[in-house]
Amino acid sequence: MKGRFYVVGVGPGDPELLTLKAARILSESQVWLVPAAGRNGMSTALDIACGAVDCRGKKIITHHFPMNKIYTDREPDREAQHAWQLAAELISSHLDSGLNVALPTLGDPAIYSTGFYVCETLLALVPQSVVKIIPGVSAMGASSAAAQIPLCLGNERLLLVPAVFAEDDLRAVLQSSTTIVFMKVRNALARLVPLLAEFDLLDRAVLVERVGMADQQIYRDISSIMTKKLHYFSTLIVRKK
Ligand SMILES: C[S@@+](CC[C@H](N)C(=O)[O-])C[C@H]1O[C@@H](n2cnc3c(N)ncnc32)[C@H](O)[C@@H]1O
Repeated sequence: MKGRFYVVGVGPGDPELLTLKAARILSESQVWLVPAAGRNGMSTALDIACGAVDCRGKKIITHHFPMNKIYTDREPDREAQHAWQLAAELISSHLDSGLNVALPTLGDPAIYSTGFYVCETLLALVPQSVVKIIPGVSAMGASSAAAQIPLCLGNERLLLVPAVFAEDDLRAVLQSSTTIVFMKVRNALARLVPLLAEFDLLDRAVLVERVGMADQQIYRDISSIMTKKLHYFSTLIVRKK
């Protein structure tokens, strides 16, 4: 029998936020294909997974996925496409041997995760592959909890924005919803802070850096960190009410 491929959300940092199901699937998968953003082999998803599940005896394959911008309405970046293709080929060869393969991914696979690109590429390569997605706690959920700010209540609306893409329409974004969550925000504060001041929303913004990790930071005065070199794992919540 062929193995199954699982994309497993491992939450944003704290291994205790891994779900029981994620832990079980990781335990039952003989092969872990772990995403690494850099070429140094470091993988935050692997660190989180190993904090919750015994990874001894696992075949751990670190796979580099470049952090190139992906526009879903354009032809995908070639380097990224190549990485998805290589990952799909690796996964498929292990599935053929009857092994289960898990791809631990940061947060929830539903949100800006490489996992879905890999699934799509695997299914294009081997359409009969069995693929399962295991949800996880998202960084925005964990940031909301850490900052003790709800994302939406009652009739409110929530908008999730990858700040790195939203260069021209930040004004419209800020007007469009009760709560706006900005991910990929670390290089956008210099643009966002003056706009938030203009909309009188500075005291409505909270930035959570490395939520759930030992060095987690919560910044409630974001103008004071406008020029700070923030970690990529930073999420900004702007809640108008
Ligand atoms: C590629 S997206 C992955 C999102 C992830 N799939 C999720 O469900 O949260 C990366 C962005 O998620 C946010 N993020 C991920 N981990 C985080 C953490 N530990 N603390 C704060 N933000 C985090 C940051 O905005 C980062 O730029």
